[in-house]
Amino acid sequence: MHRTATIFSLLLAATAGAEDVSFQRDVWPIFKRHCVGCHSEQKTKGRLRLDDVAALMKGGKTGPLFAAGKPDDSLLITQVSGEKPEMPENEAPLSAAKVKLLHDWIAQGAKIDAAPKSEVPPVVIPATYASAPAVSSVTISPDGKQVAAACRSEVMVFNVDDDSAPRRLPTDFDIINHVEFSPDGKRLAAAGGSPQQFGGVIFFDPADGKQQGMRRIGTDTFFKGNFAPDGQTIALGGANGAIHLVPVDPAAQPAMIELHSDWVTAVAFTADGKQLVSGSRDKTTKISSVEGRTLLRSVDESPDPINAVAADTLTAISGGNARTLTGYDFKLALSGVEVTGSGNGARPVNNRAQYVRAFEAQADAVMGLATSGDRKLLAVATRASEVRIYETEKRTRKTTIPKVPSPVLAIALNRDGTRLALGSKTGEVQIWDTASGKLIKALIPVPVQPATIAGK
Ligand code: HEC
Repeated sequence: MHRTATIFSLLLAATAGAEDVSFQRDVWPIFKRHCVGCHSEQKTKGRLRLDDVAALMKGGKTGPLFAAGKPDDSLLITQVSGEKPEMPENEAPLSAAKVKLLHDWIAQGAKIDAAPKSEVPPVVIPATYASAPAVSSVTISPDGKQVAAACRSEVMVFNVDDDSAPRRLPTDFDIINHVEFSPDGKRLAAAGGSPQQFGGVIFFDPADGKQQGMRRIGTDTFFKGNFAPDGQTIALGGANGAIHLVPVDPAAQPAMIELHSDWVTAVAFTADGKQLVSGSRDKTTKISSVEGRTLLRSVDESPDPINAVAADTLTAISGGNARTLTGYDFKLALSGVEVTGSGNGARPVNNRAQYVRAFEAQADAVMGLATSGDRKLLAVATRASEVRIYETEKRTRKTTIPKVPSPVLAIALNRDGTRLALGSKTGEVQIWDTASGKLIKALIPVPVQPATIAGK
């Protein structure tokens, strides 16, 4: 109701001069929902904090965010508006109404009427979206017949082979970062949460969309993850640098493996379920033991953040902003670490060259990796407008799917690798036949308002 009233008053404001914008009521909730995940005391990207009034008045590494009364010259407005807004980084742009609130607030003198309120506005899922939210994760059922896509706060589930309307599975998470069918196809997990509030995972029955269980864990969101091969546990990357192991049995306790110094962006189980491969914004790729809940080895450090990981039967695989896709032979990477020197001067010998199994160079930043259920195929999504499929054993390219709606943020293969699903930042989901390289289906799963004539 409140949201409707605000939009209505904005419409009036367009003709009748701007309505008074309140920092506490209007501006702060925008920062809290869309920005503080990266601009806070804990994470201070661009040396900018938006969780504290004094800090936000000071600005970031470039200097002040705005001069009161001059919205059009302000860094804050240029960062969140334009054709492809820079901020929020890698996320759906702010709605025009929210940009206008920030704009009007600065135009009216950027007054702080009251300190930020701590309570957070409830998640509102629009009946119809003004523009399609980015698809942050996709999953395809083992038989290849059903696809689920994470569209901001809801999961959209649809059948590949008929045109029945997608089923909407709403959540109270600000953002869902990971969706996945369990290996037997009987469960659908959706994980994410709300920045600086909670991490959450919901298990749905994919047949009827009913919730089977739901957990809230910790104080920040979960990123990408993976079901264990037995389907009894899901491992999820945490904003706190840990891998969270969440059992599907609501009576069992979740566990945590703390091993990274920044967001764990992706986690994958090995085929035998005994180890986990994890990648992080801290730029490292690590292998840890599920049973011991300990780090086995930090296998690599990239010059840039890692966005995606996978595991075939012999190698751990990771890729990220550095545009490289690298495999790490498990046996060699984890075999006895040799040491040179002795006493305090002892150093492990870096045998990286022996265990690295490089793939060909990638066209752009790697955003998503997916293996088929038999782990024979690996699909790679990058920011470039093609998806490549490799044979894991030989690390050679088998198929290239050209002209996909880039950047592709999410990718999935079914059990035998015959079907591939991808999700784009544009809001589109596509299903491809990997053998023939033919597009089976393309859709924007959420309901979107029909485009209006520009400017009128
Ligand atoms: C996912 C992380 C992320 C989110 C969410 C995010 N930012 Fe940023 N932001 C960054 C990073 C990283 C930089 C630094 C970019 C650089 O230095 O090139 C940055 C830089 C900025 C800067 C420039 C600071 C300076 O002084 O140079 C502004 C302004 C900014 N962000 C505003 C926002 C606003 C407003 C929001 C919410 C609408 C937001 N950001 C959400 C990651 C994020």
